[in-house]
Amino acid sequence: SSQLGPDYILRPLQLSDYRAGVLEVLKDLTVVGDISEERFTEQFEFLRARQGEYFVIVIEKAATGNVVGVGTLLVERKFIHECGLVGHIEDIAVAKSEQGKRLGIKIIGALDFIGKRVGCYKNILDCSPHNEQFYVKCGYSNAGFEMTKRF
Ligand code: ACO
Repeated sequence: SSQLGPDYILRPLQLSDYRAGVLEVLKDLTVVGDISEERFTEQFEFLRARQGEYFVIVIEKAATGNVVGVGTLLVERKFIHECGLVGHIEDIAVAKSEQGKRLGIKIIGALDFIGKRVGCYKNILDCSPHNEQFYVKCGYSNAGFEMTKRF
């Protein structure tokens, strides 16, 4: 998009992003594990079949073709708020060498734009205290605690 300048391309995830390093970018966020191209493809097809529900976007560095940023919006359909929709922002990561160049804020801006366009009344996310100020700069505010039960 024009806001990104000519050096970066923001677009939906595509199958070839397995080879363009999308999983390496996610490894900066947490454990990814050893995922074969077949498993990646299977998961990709599952998400693609749920158009309007899962939006996975990436930022590609034009000079190399590598993925340097990634983020997901998952649209939840509720009964409350007159069958309202809530967007869940998940798995945001920017490659270490590309952090601090406002790519993260562009990813969140794009996911907020999608959320609004599909009719979500809000987007929400969980993050560590370490990242709170990043999300404040993206226009988010603290709305309580994250609770977890691991299985
Ligand atoms: N603490 C305080 N301020 C921050 C932080 C931080 N941890 N990270 C970024 N900022 C500020 C920047 O300085 C910048 O400020 P400015 O507008 O005054 O210049 C603004 O936030 C926007 O920063 P970006 O350059 O867009 O951030 P970046 O591209 O580096 O992406 C991100 C931020 C995604 C948190 C990146 O550091 C990252 O990938 N970290 C590792 C993975 C991770 O923690 N992901 C988030 C998990 S939470 C979730 O997925 C819902």
